[in-house]
Amino acid sequence: MADKKETFYITTPIYYPSAKLHIGHTYCTVMADAMARFKRLSGYDVRFMTGTDEHGQKIKTIADEAGVSPKEYVDDVVSGIKKLWAKMEISYDDFIRTTEPRHYKRVQDIFKKMQETGDIYKGEYEGWYCTPCESYWTETQLEEGKCPDCGRPVKVMKEEAYFFKLSKYADRLLKLYDENPEFLKPDSRRKEMTSFIEQGLDDLCISRKGLEWGISIPGDEEHSIYVWLDALANYITALGYPSDNEEDEELYRKYWPADFHLVGKEIVRFHSIIWPAMLMSLDLPLPKHILGHGWLLIDGGKMSKSKGNVVDPEILIERYGIDALKYFLLREYTFGQDGIYTNEVMLKRINFDLANDLGNLLSRTVSMIEKYSGGLVPEAETSDKIDDDLINIAINASKKASIKMDSFEFNNALEAIWEVVRRANKYIDEKMPWTLAKEPARKKELDTVLRNLAETLRIVSILIIPYMHSTSDRMREQLGISDIPALWEDTFEFYKLKGVTVSKGDALFPRLDIEKELKELDEVKQDKMATKNKHK
Ligand code: MSP
Repeated sequence: MADKKETFYITTPIYYPSAKLHIGHTYCTVMADAMARFKRLSGYDVRFMTGTDEHGQKIKTIADEAGVSPKEYVDDVVSGIKKLWAKMEISYDDFIRTTEPRHYKRVQDIFKKMQETGDIYKGEYEGWYCTPCESYWTETQLEEGKCPDCGRPVKVMKEEAYFFKLSKYADRLLKLYDENPEFLKPDSRRKEMTSFIEQGLDDLCISRKGLEWGISIPGDEEHSIYVWLDALANYITALGYPSDNEEDEELYRKYWPADFHLVGKEIVRFHSIIWPAMLMSLDLPLPKHILGHGWLLIDGGKMSKSKGNVVDPEILIERYGIDALKYFLLREYTFGQDGIYTNEVMLKRINFDLANDLGNLLSRTVSMIEKYSGGLVPEAETSDKIDDDLINIAINASKKASIKMDSFEFNNALEAIWEVVRRANKYIDEKMPWTLAKEPARKKELDTVLRNLAETLRIVSILIIPYMHSTSDRMREQLGISDIPALWEDTFEFYKLKGVTVSKGDALFPRLDIEKELKELDEVKQDKMATKNKHK
């Protein structure tokens, strides 16, 4: 019997469908997608989940302002989000909406289970509440009297409420971080969470009275369940937990615990404190890793609709294509750190790395094989130090890229691949095939050069699949190998091609006139602002 594949479960946060998503949101989803594709390619049975977090006061208020029901409002935004992911070819296996019956019912069951454990009690809550963040804060947590997360004003709220005995889990959480430092990364976030807990963990208010746009508490319908409890549960409700029926829990049994929850830095607190405590209360295994990524900043600040400084991924995709955008996001930023977005940095990446390095390598190679070998990839019958150096770098790149991917260093994984691309371009300059072509006695050396370049590009076409699978397809077409399956293990060996004929196609990435693009991107932005103001 064939060995069962190892499973790999990765999630993104479920996004608020309060407005169209911007490039900051796509950043996390693109990373999760690349990781899911990388793991599939390296032989794992992958489950990649995403979705939308649709309940709560914030959505209700926005829908009221728009004069539609909350459901109508979220349906519209969610359909736009799904279209964006389809356009970006995000390979999720399931998309959960918290308004779906499968989620709603299971959250109520989870609440009941936590009640049965004795971890939920009714009391009265008085505290500082930040409506946009849906968070209560203690006096000491406030920063200059404002919400420490978003900096907006908070107000005192007092209501009859249900509480989760979060304080009971403080010691277990500290022990978890201490004994298992891999649970929460980067280290700076773990230290932050440790000191947060050490300052004292209060029980958590987990209900809101009179909020209709939420999941009602079973048996006490005028209260609805705190949105974060509702939202965090998605990671298991989407796998069918809990259910009376064994078959419905099949995915849960197969994929839980999650390998990675990818989350932005400001929601690490919810994922590394409330979520594990909920799971402890339910007596379920904990996720293996919570990874907090940084923000994409613009003009030194966070992108926000209200500031009007969001970057719309759809405009960039239309102009430069999905692969260019994905490559840029993964190559430019360092996981865990904030990064500054500018159009100029993006355009330069596209021109230098994609049009010059990768695009030129393919077009030079294919042209030369057509010109000097009638399109047929020749045999390699000679070798010297320079050939060996190229071959070595090419067959070792997958190992290097894998190590970097396993620590979520997307930029360094791509760097390991571009090391091959740049080495191959240098190889052309060193070998000067156009000179070899002039000397019939050196025909064999010329053949070796052409063959080595074709093999190097074959390897690169597999290595880039997790990040740019359409570009990989386009490369393989020109290399004449689109009928051959692109297998990860084929990157370990160099000489694989047999009787292959190349055929020149369009440039992979046309060179951009950066000045012109910058001007046009600015104009699009101004047009959009003008339209927005007209609608006010
Ligand atoms: N609904 C909650 C998550 C619940 S998960 C159980 C939420 N939604 S959100 O839409 O506000 O944010 C989703 C994610 O997008 C967060 O991880 C957040 O950090 C990320 N980003 C939002 N703006 C961002 C940037 N400018 N840059 C990078 N990531 C950003 O929080």
